[in-house]
Amino acid sequence: MTTRWLGVMLLSMTIATVAAHGSVTKAEFGKTSDGTAIEIYTLKSDAVEARVMTYGARVVSIKTADKNGNVADVVLGYDSFAGYLADGKTYFGAIVGRYGNRIAKGEFVLDGKTYQVPKNNDGNSLHGGTVGFDKLVWKAREVAEGVEMTLVSKDGDQGYPGTLTAHVRYTLHHNALRIDYSMTTDKDTVVNLTNHSYFNLGGVGSGTILGEEMMLAADKYTPTDKGLIPTGELASVEGTPMDFRKATVIGKRINDNFEALKLAGGYDHNWVLRGANGEIKTAARVHDPVSGRVMTVTTTEPGVQFYTGNFLDGTFHGPGGVVYAKNTGLCLETQHYPDSPNHPSFPTTELKPGQTRHSMTTFTFSADK
Ligand code: GLA
Repeated sequence: MTTRWLGVMLLSMTIATVAAHGSVTKAEFGKTSDGTAIEIYTLKSDAVEARVMTYGARVVSIKTADKNGNVADVVLGYDSFAGYLADGKTYFGAIVGRYGNRIAKGEFVLDGKTYQVPKNNDGNSLHGGTVGFDKLVWKAREVAEGVEMTLVSKDGDQGYPGTLTAHVRYTLHHNALRIDYSMTTDKDTVVNLTNHSYFNLGGVGSGTILGEEMMLAADKYTPTDKGLIPTGELASVEGTPMDFRKATVIGKRINDNFEALKLAGGYDHNWVLRGANGEIKTAARVHDPVSGRVMTVTTTEPGVQFYTGNFLDGTFHGPGGVVYAKNTGLCLETQHYPDSPNHPSFPTTELKPGQTRHSMTTFTFSADK
């Protein structure tokens, strides 16, 4: 056999291996009340199967193996589209926007003009308003190893200025689900997009996340008032139950007599990530000692909202009737800080025509033996 032939054979074997790693398939998941078809994309690699749908550009499931090779879904969701339509509260798996988390009194000033967006959370605006990006139907197109979702939010949508075009690309690379965001506008606006998946590394239905251990790569967090609006201070985590610099069991201090925890009924705060805004850095590592599953989160965002599913109250039920009770999932929403438009000292969330905001977050899954 000539060396050339050998080269060609090796090359085609490599291509076959690459092809065997990833696949993307599409199906219909349901229809909205006005008859719009909702598509669901299944992304498969050798280690993970992730499903994302066009309603809210939501992650519907992420299946991955535990230390014994048993595969389970590690994100909270519903097995039918009807479940998502019936749940206007949890934001399961969604891309939240135009502004993820809160804006005080739904009000901000931009270029000298005051804007009012819906007050849908105790007098403040949460996750983009009454009809945020989580409740809109995105357009999808297949890309290498994944799917890209696009949404055009019109000038004035929920009171926000400027036509905002958002592309959110989900791709699967071996054991990592990568989310790439890009945003442009035709008028000055504010924008803060994140993914609101609730993870339970033991698998959906395995109980609460209070026994999981977590590390957050943050020395500071943003304390809030009782409406969970940042006071503007960046407080040290040192000596408080907010200190996750060393991996700590999530439930260990959650009921401590500490104001921030009492205000939120658990963890529901923004941590200030170490490292520069825009640079890729580790945000968090979660480990479930029972299943052995590990999830590592990296991001270019300056902050992360760690939320322990405090508002889950058993109203909603998942696959097989599993009850979504308090603390049955945790969110790690990589983001700009809440209420940034009203805090000039925070990294800016303003976006101007001609600029493109890029942001990237990865969730990587493994299991220790
Ligand atoms: C975010 C908020 C929480 C809550 C959840 C959704 O994590 O910070 O207060 O609104 O979303 O219920």
